[in-house]
Formats: sequence, structure tokens, C-alpha cells
Amino acid sequence: MKTVILIGFMGCGKTSLGQYAADRLGMAFVDTDSRVEEICGMPISRIFAERGEAWFRQLESEVLADCCRRGGTIVATGGGIVKDPRNAALVHENNGFLLYLRTDPEEIYRRLRDDNSRPLLNPYLGEAKLRRICELMDERKLLYEEAADDVFDEQGASMEEIGEELSVRIREIASESAKI
Ligand code: S3P
Repeated sequence: MKTVILIGFMGCGKTSLGQYAADRLGMAFVDTDSRVEEICGMPISRIFAERGEAWFRQLESEVLADCCRRGGTIVATGGGIVKDPRNAALVHENNGFLLYLRTDPEEIYRRLRDDNSRPLLNPYLGEAKLRRICELMDERKLLYEEAADDVFDEQGASMEEIGEELSVRIREIASESAKI
């Protein structure tokens, strides 16, 4: 069974939807941000403040490499994982599948308006936060699209409905690859 790696912008639901689908399908689940936090014994915001983004990116790639070696797992990644093209290449070398969870910036803003766990958005409030999300999305949109093997457009009234649709898609991906 293929390992399915979820990519997409902060707040698109990689962790919550990925965990939902893993429970639904009886697949293992790993969140790269949580693994990094576990290894370092501190939250991402402190890692950025004390060690810097480059240091975080290095460890994030090492954690991803470890995830790629497992089969039949759903992996939620950090939104910046596509910044280094070697990460997508690593997934493909290990027969993994990159699924892009696509959400629009307004929806991301609605979800992250009161969140303070994302160091790249923390300095911004209100309209400035929405502008920063749009800027970052412009920088990364193409990276997500180019890295992805497929795109999952988030639709549906609730996270549960989206989670159900995503579970169906992931089951198709996993069973399709099982036939090969
Ligand atoms: C980041 C996204 C975060 C986390 C870090 C950097 C990014 O993960 O890895 O704050 O560069 O977009 P989420 O996408 O889970 O918020």
C-alpha cells in the first residue's frame, strides 16, 4: 500500500483531515510537525525563534524521509515542505503519493484568524494577516501544484463531510497502487 503524503497551505486541514481519514480507513498516521516537536521537545514557534527556519527545514526533511520508508501511512506535512524540491523527489523515489489539499486564502484566514501557533503568520493581525496569507499562497501555489500527484479541492459544509470525501479518495489511491 502506498504512503499518502498530504501537502497544502497552513490551516488547510492536513492534520485534522489526515487523522480523520486514517481512523476511518484503519491506516497509520504521522504528522511531521508533531514528530519535529517531539524530537526537539519544544513547540514549532520556539524552534523557529531559538534555532531558526533553516534548522527546522533540515529536521523536517529528515522526518519526512523516515515517513517515506513506511508503507500504508497517511502523512500530514508542514505547509512549507514543498519549498525544498528534494522533498517531493524523495517521496516519489520511495513510491509515495503527494496529495494537495487545496483551500482558498479567505477560508484559511477564517480558520487561522485567532491561531497563534504559526510563526510565519504570528506578526500579523486582522487584514494584515489575510494579506500575508495571500502573499504566501501566491509564492507557494505553483510549488504545491507542481509537486502534487493529484489535487483534492476541499468542498462540503463541514470538516466531517470533507473528511469523508478525503477518506474515499485516499482509499482509491491506496487500493489502486495495491493492484500495481
Ligand atoms: C509552515 C507550516 C506549519 C509549520 C511551520 C511552517 C509553513 O505547518 O510546519 O509553522 O512554512 O507553511 P502547518 O501547515 O501544519 O500549519
